[in-house]
Amino acid sequence: MKKILLALVVILIGIQFIPVERTNPPIRRDISAPDNISTILRASCYDCHSNETVWPWYSKIAPVSFLVAGDVNDGRKHLNFSEWDKYEDGKREKILEEIVEEVEKENMPLTIYTFTHPSAKLDPFRINLLKDWVNQGSSKEKSLRYEK
Ligand code: HEC
Repeated sequence: MKKILLALVVILIGIQFIPVERTNPPIRRDISAPDNISTILRASCYDCHSNETVWPWYSKIAPVSFLVAGDVNDGRKHLNFSEWDKYEDGKREKILEEIVEEVEKENMPLTIYTFTHPSAKLDPFRINLLKDWVNQGSSKEKSLRYEK
């Protein structure tokens, strides 16, 4: 029993030395949105979908660090609000529609995230604000023209 515990401790210490990519690359061009929409996206999505991730203390401790960094790096690959300029016009529109789809189905923000960040969970009111903004049409143009 003691040997197993000792082995676990050694493994736990050992995995702390496995490098984890925990970066915040420079912001290229942030998505342009009215303040109320920006506030929602920042509070609920930016930790995984921007280059402004707030890395919590537990994101520095393996094996949790692997999970957090994995979600952030994967999230950024799918959608990065800080690199809004890298998407073609059509792609941006598609992403905006996907955002509505994902929040309506309650797929986003991820449950593992709202567990530790309860205030990031979206209520119907905020989901509707996002939906109205995307469906306005003008919102799409605005986000494409990057006015702020
Ligand atoms: C804890 C990290 C995390 C948070 C917070 C988060 N996402 Fe995601 N998101 C991911 C990951 C990881 C993926 C890619 C894998 C997947 O689709 O599950 C993703 C994928 C997506 C996609 C692309 C789906 C596709 O089919 O390509 C959209 C759109 C999206 N998220 C929107 C949002 C929105 C909007 C919010 C905030 C309301 C949000 N996400 C919050 C991690 C996150």
